[in-house]
Amino acid sequence: MFINFRRIHKCQCMQLLTTGLVMCVVMLCWEELDHHVVSHMRSYTYRYLVNSYDFLNSSFTITSKPHYGSVNVDGGLGNYSYLINHPGKCGSSDGDGKGWDDVLLLLFVKSSPHNFERRQAIRDTWGNESFLWSELGASVRVVFALGMHPDVRLRSRVQTALLQEDQAYGDLIQQNFVDTFHNLTTKLILQFHWGHKYCPQAHFLMSADDDIFIHMPNLVKYLRQLLSSHTGAKDLWVGHVHRGAPPIRRKDSKYHVPHDLYPWPSYPDYTAGAGYVVSRDVAAKIYRATLVLKSSIYIDDVFMGICANAMGVSPKEHVYFSGEGKAPYHPCIYDHMITSHGHAKDVRSLWQAATDPTVYSNYRGYMGNLYCTAVRVMLLCLPYYQNTYSCMAAFT
Ligand SMILES: *[C@@H]1O[C@H](CO)[C@@H](O)[C@H](O)[C@H]1NC(C)=O
Ligand SMILES: *[C@@H]1O[C@H](CO)[C@@H](O)[C@H](O)[C@H]1NC(C)=O
Ligand SMILES: *[C@@H]1O[C@H](CO)[C@@H](O)[C@H](O)[C@H]1NC(C)=O
Ligand SMILES: *[C@@H]1O[C@H](CO)[C@@H](O)[C@H](O)[C@H]1NC(C)=O
Repeated sequence: MFINFRRIHKCQCMQLLTTGLVMCVVMLCWEELDHHVVSHMRSYTYRYLVNSYDFLNSSFTITSKPHYGSVNVDGGLGNYSYLINHPGKCGSSDGDGKGWDDVLLLLFVKSSPHNFERRQAIRDTWGNESFLWSELGASVRVVFALGMHPDVRLRSRVQTALLQEDQAYGDLIQQNFVDTFHNLTTKLILQFHWGHKYCPQAHFLMSADDDIFIHMPNLVKYLRQLLSSHTGAKDLWVGHVHRGAPPIRRKDSKYHVPHDLYPWPSYPDYTAGAGYVVSRDVAAKIYRATLVLKSSIYIDDVFMGICANAMGVSPKEHVYFSGEGKAPYHPCIYDHMITSHGHAKDVRSLWQAATDPTVYSNYRGYMGNLYCTAVRVMLLCLPYYQNTYSCMAAFT
């Protein structure tokens, strides 16, 4: 056999060089790798192998001594008082509870004081209670959850505008905490406490961002199906589920969570805060959890995950609830979509398009279904859009 030694030598040299180069690149990118690949690997390992979040109960239960500085001196209760409130929004509890209205859905929109236009767009479209009542026969209450404007100099001016807005529409719920990203957990607590006190009879409670689009006819249909199913609408927490998400340790991230706040490699499962629904019994459980758990985690959807975990509730995935990102604009999507995230200016046109009864008429029947499945595969399974609905949604 003829062996060319010189050739081998050359090959090995090349191999060595390439390996060296790859190593260099890996070393250079290690920071990034550490954050993305390694933290996810660690987190998924934890989620799927260890898969016990027992520590959460004990670590987050409020003991007599407050942890993490002064954040929870009030015991995590978020004992803030209401600046604007509508106790009678769902009827009133005069004595035996006969005064309550039959409410299908209590819908909280997490808004900020200066987002007047977004609120207006919602009132004009999917949040129009009288439309939902007259067209769908659905009793829905839409309220906006707010804190105070973060800029002290603008606060009184914005507050005056808010009071006027509330005079006109009567749908703002505001407490006297500063409305910032890091106070979102406080806003979550507001929602569950308000629901517990003023609307405990609602069959479902939903929490949504103010830049979301909700296809109310589809949502109402889905909720009614749940209500009439033989198991009833119990033990339900539905949305776009994040499983085994790792805490983000990068200091420059908005979602940065320091080690001493959450030392474990993985969060319990939770639904994206963009929009999720819980049934009445789960809302009551979450309320109870907020009374005894520390609200030191300021990412509200993660805090919700911790509360649910402590109460033995796990989230359910629905492929047409969005996480980040918008739904593709197409009738074959409108037919199924529940929520879509990241809308501001286009809420009105989308509402028009998505609720037009003639929009689906071309897509009925066997051929229509086949065509729509093909379109959805094109839209959802090819990597055009950023994480809206999963490819699985194409086949439902
Ligand atoms: C936390 O405590 C609740 C109630 O005591 C219990 O139902 C739940 O299973 C516990 N969760 C874990 C993960 O141990
Ligand atoms: C919450 O505030 C109210 C009135 O400001 C007060 O009466 C109540 O004791 C407070 N509750 C707690 C748990 O601090
Ligand atoms: C809300 O819906 C009702 C009933 O369909 C309609 O009369 C009203 O104009 C709508 N309001 C807005 C602001 O679009
Ligand atoms: C949250 O609101 C409280 C009450 O207004 C305020 O003292 C605190 O600084 C706010 N926290 C953040 C992180 O903005």
